[in-house]
Amino acid sequence: MKISSSLIQATCLLLSLGAVSDARSVTPAAKGYSRTEACKPHHPFKPFPPSQPRTKTCHVSSHGDGRDDAKYILSALKKCNNGGKVVFDADKHYTIGTALDMTFLKNVDLDIQGYIQFTNDTDYWQANAFKQVYQNATTFFQLGGEDVNVYGGGTLDGNGQVWYDLYAEDALILRPVLFGVLGLNGGTIGPLNLRYSPQWYNFIANSTNVLYEGIDIAGYSKDSIVAKNTDGWDIYRSSNIVIQDSVINNGDDCVSFKPNVTDIIVQNLHCNGSHGISVGSLGQYVGEVDIVENVLVYNISMFNASDGARIKVWPGVSSALSEDLQGGGGSGMVKNITYDTMYIENVDYAIEVTQCYGQSNLTLCNEFPSNLTISDVTFKNIHGTTSGKYDPVVGTIVCSSPDVCSDINVSDIAVTNPTGGDYDAFTCTNVDDTLLAVNCTSS
Ligand SMILES: *[C@@H]1O[C@H](CO)[C@@H](O)[C@H](O)[C@H]1NC(C)=O
Ligand SMILES: *[C@@H]1O[C@H](CO)[C@@H](O)[C@H](O)[C@H]1NC(C)=O
Ligand SMILES: *[C@@H]1O[C@H](CO)[C@@H](O)[C@H](O)[C@H]1NC(C)=O
Ligand SMILES: *[C@@H]1O[C@H](CO)[C@@H](O)[C@H](O)[C@H]1NC(C)=O
Ligand SMILES: *[C@@H]1O[C@H](CO)[C@@H](O)[C@H](O)[C@H]1NC(C)=O
Ligand SMILES: *[C@@H]1O[C@H](CO)[C@@H](O)[C@H](O)[C@H]1NC(C)=O
Ligand SMILES: *[C@@H]1O[C@H](CO)[C@@H](O)[C@H](O)[C@H]1NC(C)=O
Ligand SMILES: *[C@@H]1O[C@H](CO)[C@@H](O)[C@H](O)[C@H]1NC(C)=O
Ligand SMILES: *[C@@H]1O[C@H](CO)[C@@H](O)[C@H](O)[C@H]1NC(C)=O
Ligand SMILES: *[C@@H]1O[C@H](CO)[C@@H](O)[C@H](O)[C@H]1NC(C)=O
Ligand SMILES: *[C@@H]1O[C@H](CO)[C@@H](O)[C@H](O)[C@H]1NC(C)=O
Ligand SMILES: *[C@@H]1O[C@H](CO)[C@@H](O)[C@H](O)[C@H]1NC(C)=O
Repeated sequence: MKISSSLIQATCLLLSLGAVSDARSVTPAAKGYSRTEACKPHHPFKPFPPSQPRTKTCHVSSHGDGRDDAKYILSALKKCNNGGKVVFDADKHYTIGTALDMTFLKNVDLDIQGYIQFTNDTDYWQANAFKQVYQNATTFFQLGGEDVNVYGGGTLDGNGQVWYDLYAEDALILRPVLFGVLGLNGGTIGPLNLRYSPQWYNFIANSTNVLYEGIDIAGYSKDSIVAKNTDGWDIYRSSNIVIQDSVINNGDDCVSFKPNVTDIIVQNLHCNGSHGISVGSLGQYVGEVDIVENVLVYNISMFNASDGARIKVWPGVSSALSEDLQGGGGSGMVKNITYDTMYIENVDYAIEVTQCYGQSNLTLCNEFPSNLTISDVTFKNIHGTTSGKYDPVVGTIVCSSPDVCSDINVSDIAVTNPTGGDYDAFTCTNVDDTLLAVNCTSS
């Protein structure tokens, strides 16, 4: 099936206006066929495979009273898998109290118009959520297979409060990720609202050719305990992924590129309250080789954040900064990363490159330089105002040795402190400052 380019344009316009709640009116059936063209303004590194037509529809029942609806969901998925559409009705409230393995999906759409909430049974989920091993991540469900679209403008609610409170008592509890995509080849995720995730909102691993668009993320703690590690996306062992036209209100990385991630486009995001768009952390585990290569981050608005553009790499020596943040000594490379066009407001550092992540002793960090190289990185067209936290400094580029960083190019930066003055003052260490069109305060 072919759709007109004006329809595609209308779709993109609607989504780029951030009208996620109106996004329900986007004709989802049409979207699948245009995954590649829907990626704007930058296309994916490789064209996405086309979506096959859907010819049957199944509606998911719900108890509507807080009882577990997992069985209804599985039976609808089985019935409409291979060429169908599974609808979560707009007027229904669904409860999920069972870890759902949905990695068998093929040529199927999940049209989530309704509201889905995960139960607050922390004992059950700690025992049964899917263990993804990497950084002890677990997920409420795992969705994977081939050619799967999930959209509808509905809501997934992780019931996070009980987890935020429990984590404050015990940092080793396993908090499930709200949306787990595992082993998906070909798919579109969004428009959707994601709320109150216990930790990261999206974990995508072992996947290729996936487009996220029109994702609206929010959910703060309602008491004095802060919701921690609520990353927007963590991408791991995946390639050819596009994330675009989304609004993220969270408290950790807006998007994070974890080990073995290549060919990624992130564009047109509005991030608030985050730790920036981050490569890493990488090099956390001794003996592992971490690669992040070919990433383009374009047109990001970053508000109330610790960082705008960030690359965080562990040094060559192990450390334990806190009970659940320890590591260092791993190797690998970060290569061909571009951050182009970012507006910042109330952000501590416009740019932060560190190879001393998780290590507070800089002497030690320089003594044991990172085994993970950083090369061919461009930061350009970044403007706005910092928080003033590091006044007069607005950015920092600190490598652990000149041997492990090369071709880091910074240009067209117009960032000021809230008090003005001290234009573009940067901390630059162990890096070729002839490529840095900023005022380095040390080098
Ligand atoms: C968990 O959810 C149940 C059912 O909705 C509710 O009765 C109970 O108060 C909740 N417990 C906590 C700790 O929030
Ligand atoms: C990804 O695939 C690898 C290899 O099959 C497997 O060992 C791993 O458990 C999968 N999941 C994650 C999150 O890495
Ligand atoms: C997982 O958690 C255990 C403690 O429960 C910790 O010892 C281990 O280092 C963690 N693993 C990773 C990969 O973070
Ligand atoms: C990442 O890729 C490198 C190079 O191919 C490989 O050695 C390493 O085992 C991979 N790591 C993971 C976690 O998949
Ligand atoms: C940049 O992203 C914003 C949404 O955050 C969007 O409104 C705007 O149209 C985008 N600009 C370009 C040039 O794509
Ligand atoms: C943006 O982030 C700030 C600081 O984290 C928070 O106070 C504010 O409520 C957020 N705004 C929205 C619209 O969520
Ligand atoms: C590097 O990334 C850019 C996108 O920023 C891409 O166009 C280019 O092809 C990549 N280079 C290589 C060698 O893959
Ligand atoms: C940034 O934070 C301030 C203070 O919490 C808030 O008023 C403002 O709306 C936030 N900005 C955005 C874009 O949410
Ligand atoms: C930092 O590391 C150096 C080199 O190993 C060591 O001499 C120094 O005592 C350390 N400083 C602190 C504060 O631990
Ligand atoms: C890591 O770097 C240290 C020196 O900083 C070196 O002694 C060690 O062999 C390196 N390890 C790997 C796996 O490259
Ligand atoms: C650095 O980036 C600027 C702007 O994109 C470009 O003109 C310049 O050639 C680059 N320099 C190097 C050495 O790559
Ligand atoms: C360096 O700072 C001076 C003011 O002290 C400013 O005029 C100049 O534009 C800055 N240069 C860069 C490259 O930001």
